[in-house]
Amino acid sequence: MLIKKMKKIIIVCCYLLLANIKGLLCLRVLGITVPPLKQRGESASLTCDYDLEGGRLYSVKWYRDTEEFYRYMPRLRPPQHAHRLDGVKVDLEKSSARRVHLRDLTLRSRGLYRCEVSEEAPSFYSAQAEGYMEVYYFPRESPYITGHERPYRLNEPLDVNCSSAKAFPAPDLQWLIDGQKVTERSWLIAYGAKPAPQGLLVSTLGLTAPAKLNMKLRCIAVIGTHRRERSIIIETNSSIRLQHYGFVAITTLAVLNIISPKVS
Ligand SMILES: *[C@@H]1O[C@H](CO)[C@@H](O)[C@H](O)[C@H]1NC(C)=O
Ligand SMILES: *[C@@H]1O[C@H](CO)[C@@H](O)[C@H](O)[C@H]1NC(C)=O
Repeated sequence: MLIKKMKKIIIVCCYLLLANIKGLLCLRVLGITVPPLKQRGESASLTCDYDLEGGRLYSVKWYRDTEEFYRYMPRLRPPQHAHRLDGVKVDLEKSSARRVHLRDLTLRSRGLYRCEVSEEAPSFYSAQAEGYMEVYYFPRESPYITGHERPYRLNEPLDVNCSSAKAFPAPDLQWLIDGQKVTERSWLIAYGAKPAPQGLLVSTLGLTAPAKLNMKLRCIAVIGTHRRERSIIIETNSSIRLQHYGFVAITTLAVLNIISPKVS
């Protein structure tokens, strides 16, 4: 779902060979490399490899979606020119006639990147190729769990949520009870992704499994191969339950890191 990899190479002038017009050869884009998946803040090098077949280079232009952001024209001094686009910062020193280097990627850098190579007059033949770059942001923070501030009776449905930290795209969330992935759909409430600042998203997944003794809950947030998780334990204090609340069980949840030693 995450990696939308699109590569297309369009050859526009080969019919000329078939037409057997003397002196005209086919300008070809041999390949384009656009990294399919990058993290926010990283740099990306995009390359466009072409064969002029004896013709002379007029220009190489790079576009994101429909907007041009870089051109290389050997007849100009300097030959390079970059247009600033939102999310597209060209590093001219690392860019050339066959490469464009982008710094400080943001979520707005994602899009379809296309290089278009043109030959000198009189032909002005051109060829192009394109590839999609997805930019994601996966935070360091673990997901967080809410809903443990109130007591539960034994077997009472939990009312807990797991929410991812702000990320892009929306992380997938999973609940585990005592190490077992929860697959019982009636226990899960998918609240979907809510927008957060800077184009980020927060996913929330509710859990309504029945409360039981010493219940270990773990929530895992996943984007691609990245995962962050948080574990908590619901401890039932049976003394409190019996002495003060009849059959009401107080469950306490504690972040696994700070759990006091278990009472045997
Ligand atoms: C869980 O999230 C939903 C949707 O954001 C919210 O309506 C509900 O109050 C939350 N419940 C808890 C226990 O945090
Ligand atoms: C359970 O509750 C009793 C009575 O309030 C208390 O003395 C005991 O320390 C509690 N045990 C735990 C594990 O919290």
